[in-house]
Amino acid sequence: MRPASKSLFAAFAMLATAPGAATAADVKGAAPTDPALIEKIRKSNAECYVCHTEAGLKNPPRADMNLAELAKFLHDPKQFDGSNHTGMECKVCHGQGYVAFPHAPEAKKSISECGECHATKALRVETQFKDSVHAKNLADRFTCQTCHDPHVYKVAAKVGDPRKIVAQDNAMCVDCHNSDLRYGAISAALPTKKVRPDLYATHDWLPNPRLHWSAVRCIECHTPMSPVKSLATSHEILAKDKAEKACVTCHSQDSVLATRLYRFAATNVGSDLGFANASVLGSAYVVGATRHPLIDRAVIGLFGLTVLGLLGHGAVRIVMAFFRRRRAS
Ligand code: HEC
Ligand code: HEC
Ligand code: HEC
Ligand code: HEC
Ligand code: HEC
Ligand code: HEC
Ligand code: HEC
Repeated sequence: MRPASKSLFAAFAMLATAPGAATAADVKGAAPTDPALIEKIRKSNAECYVCHTEAGLKNPPRADMNLAELAKFLHDPKQFDGSNHTGMECKVCHGQGYVAFPHAPEAKKSISECGECHATKALRVETQFKDSVHAKNLADRFTCQTCHDPHVYKVAAKVGDPRKIVAQDNAMCVDCHNSDLRYGAISAALPTKKVRPDLYATHDWLPNPRLHWSAVRCIECHTPMSPVKSLATSHEILAKDKAEKACVTCHSQDSVLATRLYRFAATNVGSDLGFANASVLGSAYVVGATRHPLIDRAVIGLFGLTVLGLLGHGAVRIVMAFFRRRRAS
């Protein structure tokens, strides 16, 4: 039984009641379906894309722009359309300060935070996030946006394919943990000015870490199971000495991956060659975590035959011994 995605969506339905910059209808409405509304949003966002895309940089609509600056802030409309926030106007989060160019000097201050629209959910996440190593040690330099680009991020439950979830979620960590530049910028606040530990060296106890990282998420080992049912994952990144090291956590029939990563792919169960352990097996073979009803039955059948064989063999021997004794007497 995998109630995960249902409760996830129920949880997000709760977001709808959160007060904030967007109206309740905004959050509940998901991506709009009314063609007139879609057209209105497309036009509104095109006003930003005129400048904030590769095409805009190539053909700037005005001469008085600092193109080197603009080049730092380019966006991909396709990527935005694939994100959680597709169907939203840029202005809903960015406010009116960015409508005119040059942008209002104070515009940045009024960009909406996640919690303004996702009050309930953000609050739950925040309590876990506050206990993470990042929030504890790096304080307010580390925010939700450090990991979640609101223009790009798509919630795992809507991505579905475990490989794609792993790629997206691990990129959040690796983009910093594998980059001296980003890691250095944020750890400069630490009294120790911590040098970035090499990820491959610190995980050398794990066979083929690269392969593991294409198949499992960092958070699978670095966070506890979420105590809050409505949250699929915990945001409490634990200190390294509390990280998961036991192979059987995943390499067993009761693999935690079934309740974590693969919960999103639950609908595919049974479609791949009849294996009953999630769609995992369609894309990855987790040694030790496989289950196949046919193989199970075949094994039970073989066991039964063996027992019958043994019993039969025993019976024949008893009968033969009986006859032998009779012949002898
Ligand atoms: C006429 C071109 C143009 C248009 C239209 C435009 N921008 Fe910009 N924007 C720029 C340039 C150039 C910069 C680089 C910083 C600067 O020179 O002010 C920038 C910077 C930004 C920044 C980052 C700067 C900061 O300090 O926060 C944001 C955010 C932004 N724009 C959002 C928007 C949004 C949202 C829209 C649409 C409502 C929009 N822009 C429309 C040209 C434009
Ligand atoms: C759900 C809210 C939300 C929506 C919708 C949104 N943005 Fe943003 N945007 C943000 C936040 C928050 C930041 C600040 C990120 C940070 O602190 O680094 C930001 C930053 C930016 C920046 C500057 C930083 C960068 O890396 O480029 C630009 C430019 C920008 N947004 C453009 C847009 C455009 C264009 C759209 C519409 C297609 C849009 N945004 C829609 C929330 C949003
Ligand atoms: C101005 C309001 C607003 C802000 C600010 C905002 N969001 Fe959203 N968010 C929305 C709306 C509207 C949706 C679409 C609702 C839906 O699809 O059910 C959404 C959808 C989502 C979803 C997907 C919900 C689902 O079940 O598909 C996630 C996750 C999410 N946002 C996370 C964030 C994060 C993280 C931030 C901050 C970086 C943020 N949001 C900022 C309005 C906002
Ligand atoms: C260290 C990186 C990191 C930070 C910081 C972070 N998140 Fe996340 N977040 C993740 C990862 C990884 C996931 C798992 C992807 C998923 O389930 O969609 C996630 C999932 C989510 C989800 C959807 C999953 C669910 O359980 O329903 C929401 C909503 C969310 N984060 C909001 C936030 C908010 C709000 C903040 C700030 C208080 C925040 N996140 C800070 C990495 C981070
Ligand atoms: C923007 C940079 C950045 C991002 C993104 C980031 N981290 Fe970190 N992380 C750091 C820094 C800097 C430290 C060091 C903090 C310290 O030692 O006090 C750290 C510490 C850690 C530690 C603790 C190490 C220890 O010594 O106990 C773990 C585990 C960790 N991160 C995992 C993750 C995971 C998993 C993600 C993605 C969900 C992630 N990080 C995302 C910068 C980042
Ligand atoms: C299979 C479980 C597992 C996975 C997957 C995993 N880690 Fe780890 N990680 C650990 C364990 C266990 C340690 C502690 C190792 C030790 O101290 O010997 C650790 C240590 C760390 C440290 C501390 C390094 C140091 O020496 O300070 C960081 C940072 C970290 N991991 C980040 C990540 C990131 C980022 C990912 C995803 C690319 C990831 N981990 C994937 C189990 C895992
Ligand atoms: C967080 C879950 C998780 C943990 C913990 C974990 N693994 Fe894995 N492991 C996986 C997954 C998922 C794969 C499947 C990768 C694939 O083949 O696509 C895998 C694959 C493997 C493979 C096959 C590699 C290959 O080259 O084909 C070996 C061997 C392995 N793991 C050994 C270990 C050992 C030993 C440990 C403990 C030190 C361990 N794993 C811990 C999830 C995990």
